[in-house]
Amino acid sequence: MTTKEKPVPETGTGRQAPGPEGGVLFGALSSFKKDTLKLLMEMQRRYGGIVRMKMGPYLVHQLTSPEHVKHVLQNNSSNYTRGKFYRGFNLFFGRGMLTTDGPEWKTRRAVSQPFFNRTKLRNNSAVITTTTDELIAKWEGAARTGEEIDVTDDMMWLAMGVLGRMFYGVDLRDYADRLMPAVRFSLKAMILTGEVKQMLPKWIPTKYQRDLQRYQAVLNGVMDEIINLHRQGKGDDESVVAALLGATHAVTGKPFTQTQIRAELKTLFLAGHETTGCALTWTLYAIAKNVDVRRKLEAELDEVLGDRVPTADDLPRLTYLRQVVDESLRMYPPIWLFPRDAVADDNINGFHIPAGSTILVPTYAAHHNKESWDDPEAFDPERFCPVAGKKSGRDRYDYFPFGGGARKCIGMDLALLEIQLAVAMITRRYRLSLVAGHPVTPSALVSLRPQPKVLMTVRHNDGQRAAAA
Ligand code: HEM
Repeated sequence: MTTKEKPVPETGTGRQAPGPEGGVLFGALSSFKKDTLKLLMEMQRRYGGIVRMKMGPYLVHQLTSPEHVKHVLQNNSSNYTRGKFYRGFNLFFGRGMLTTDGPEWKTRRAVSQPFFNRTKLRNNSAVITTTTDELIAKWEGAARTGEEIDVTDDMMWLAMGVLGRMFYGVDLRDYADRLMPAVRFSLKAMILTGEVKQMLPKWIPTKYQRDLQRYQAVLNGVMDEIINLHRQGKGDDESVVAALLGATHAVTGKPFTQTQIRAELKTLFLAGHETTGCALTWTLYAIAKNVDVRRKLEAELDEVLGDRVPTADDLPRLTYLRQVVDESLRMYPPIWLFPRDAVADDNINGFHIPAGSTILVPTYAAHHNKESWDDPEAFDPERFCPVAGKKSGRDRYDYFPFGGGARKCIGMDLALLEIQLAVAMITRRYRLSLVAGHPVTPSALVSLRPQPKVLMTVRHNDGQRAAAA
């Protein structure tokens, strides 16, 4: 939203939802940034499942009650668009599957959807195990010398490797030196903070604008190189790139333009590797921190896999592994919040939602909601223990790390497959220990990044287990 946009009128049917007195909670969005996660949870605790608040110039309703989340994501989803908070994402994602709505979105999702077919992913799971093997080999030196490793960086490297091989027909890690600084900048720049530097027109040559343009050019440049490889017949005919080059845009009736193809590739890259990298990092972090969890997981992996490399067919028997991953995505949901804007006035459970106002769906606050979860701050995979013939008793929207409705994450099956296989292989091979004196906290960037770093040492697991026995 620019400063020129009109304020949202607050009259209409329905009551005003509860919220902080006077409405204005945060003078500027920049203060919201400082302790975002705590603030969201505090709002939920104090006012309940729907909270009305002003964030800087924006009127916002935070939803954590499962039926309200369902209303926006499923029952009345046609009234909700990506909206103003998603606009910041255009800066780096471009206008692609994540940031568009309606027919524009549909045509984009249709091209990529076949690549996310569950059977196809399972048949391609060797891409994941091969790439994880490379990571395991990369850590051999550190396992011998005790050298500390930066787990977040290495998990991003792993996720990038999988993504490139699965979808782009290239190894994206070959471009990592250029891509990673651009990703680091974009994670901060994409969040609309209301800070002056974001509001100033593009033509004012601030350092922020120069960096923004430089990193946008880096991302575009790498994607153009990959597209051009395919145009020159040097790419993989089975890749998403090839599919986009051959597709017809359902709205224009023409082939996708270079800008449209680039936006799709940036979207899959940014949405796919950062989230999965975070989830992998948090899962390894949680296993390292919780000795009982690690022991139980090691025992299951021993029993089911022995010394075999896992395949997708092993996963149904690795039930505890799945519980650990589910609990990690509850405790540390990589997408900790996502926004929508109301197209027309709406009424949610008797509360008025004005047209043009914003809905925030804070996955993190919902996953840490004391009304839905016992002791939500404890890492406890047992909460996801399947009981034969019984439903969990949870509402569908108590837990939604991948969102819901038609806009549910397209990469969910890939992410779950990848996290389970990679965590199984890493845990079989190594025992990871957090380096003392480096506390880690979740930081609410575009994704839920562990900050400042997850530093660990790795040791071979076999000797350890023999010694512990
Ligand atoms: C643990 C890993 C992941 C998490 C937690 C995650 C989470 C999410 C969430 C919550 C949404 C919905 C956002 C909204 O409704 O506003 C979403 C959408 C999306 N995700 Fe993921 N994601 C993950 C992995 C991936 C992967 C691996 C890919 C692709 C390779 C991917 C690509 C996308 C795309 C393209 C969308 C937009 C879909 C649409 O609007 O149709 N994600 N993701």
